[in-house]
Amino acid sequence: METVDVDLAGRSYPVWIGPGLLADSERWRSMIRGRHVLVVSNTTVAPLYLDALAQGLDGLRWASYLLDDGETHKTFANIGRILEALGELGATRDACIIALGGGVVGDMAGFAAACWMRGIDFIQVPTTLLAMVDSSVGGKTGVNLPTGKNLAGAFHQPRAVVADTYLLDTLPQREFQAGLAEVVKGAAIGDPAFFAWLEDHADTLATRETRPLIEAIARKCRYKAGVVARDETEQGERALLNLGHTFGHALETAGNYSEILHGEGVAVGMVLAARLSERLGMATADDTQRLVTLLHRLGLPTERSPRHAPTRLLDLMRLDKKNTAGTLRLILWRGIGRAEIVSGVAEDDVLAVLG
Ligand SMILES: NC(=O)c1ccc[n+]([C@@H]2O[C@H](COP(=O)([O-])OP(=O)(O)OC[C@H]3O[C@@H](n4cnc5c(N)ncnc54)[C@H](O)[C@@H]3O)[C@@H](O)[C@H]2O)c1
Repeated sequence: METVDVDLAGRSYPVWIGPGLLADSERWRSMIRGRHVLVVSNTTVAPLYLDALAQGLDGLRWASYLLDDGETHKTFANIGRILEALGELGATRDACIIALGGGVVGDMAGFAAACWMRGIDFIQVPTTLLAMVDSSVGGKTGVNLPTGKNLAGAFHQPRAVVADTYLLDTLPQREFQAGLAEVVKGAAIGDPAFFAWLEDHADTLATRETRPLIEAIARKCRYKAGVVARDETEQGERALLNLGHTFGHALETAGNYSEILHGEGVAVGMVLAARLSERLGMATADDTQRLVTLLHRLGLPTERSPRHAPTRLLDLMRLDKKNTAGTLRLILWRGIGRAEIVSGVAEDDVLAVLG
């Protein structure tokens, strides 16, 4: 097992990564302070793993609340339902929510925990690779609104993250690969040695071999934990974690969130950001090529669908939260492991890269 510490003074917490953690009842007992536990999961994950978690929670009083599966259910209405379930449980201030699921469940359960009595404990049990390496660490929680994705939310750090790698066995291949994009992203932003390690281990990672997989999850979490510890509420450095996101979100939105997965959008988005960096003289074609080759070896897309016109994608990019009035603000790089925030990017350059 690997442990990564997220160092946030009084709110520090461990990320445990390894096989078989779900049923470890001693660990659960050490984490849960009060008498009320609500497990929030969804209708796909609960039938697979709720029984194993129940073994771990043996002796504790707990209830479960299941959400329908999918991004479209990441709504305020469902936060209300989770809060009602806490009410029915009689949950007091020392209650705890356990989020058993991917990023959708984790973001919602965390937001509900932030709201109940203005903040109770929650523990992340990520069940997708994306959630293990990204969404479960760092305390961003929230829901989508009809006007946009993740527009309402709160920073609320979990008490612990329990990443049981056995749970990845049932994850569909496409979802697994989407998670690998988030692993590559961390290395591409700020850890060139990790990038080189990924190049050395791409084949065994693509086939989900346990040891390199645990190491990759731990290295990405360690990288993200460092950034979060330095800039918890995204006043500066944490924005770098959005490498590829402005392009990626535009591709996701253009495809109505049904054409490509978030991780796939990030993969293509990183390549577009690398090409734009090249065009602006910030990085070399060799850097782009190394990125493209690694993503390919991990089974990820590197070219965008020609279905969407560059001008439509640019329109969507103008709506990005990082922009200030009238100018595009993007995360670009000066080569592998050296991402930076660039303001005032000319739209003609972006169109040329999208064209
Ligand atoms: N909070 C953050 O910092 C942060 C960061 C990145 C992404 N996100 C959010 O995360 C969400 C995406 O997360 P995701 O990619 O995990 O998607 P997801 O939660 O929708 O899970 C993907 C699919 O896999 C299924 N699934 C989950 N675990 C499984 C398992 N072990 N076996 C079989 N099937 C399983 C789910 O039911 C779902 O159908 C988005 O809403 C995004 O906004 C949040």
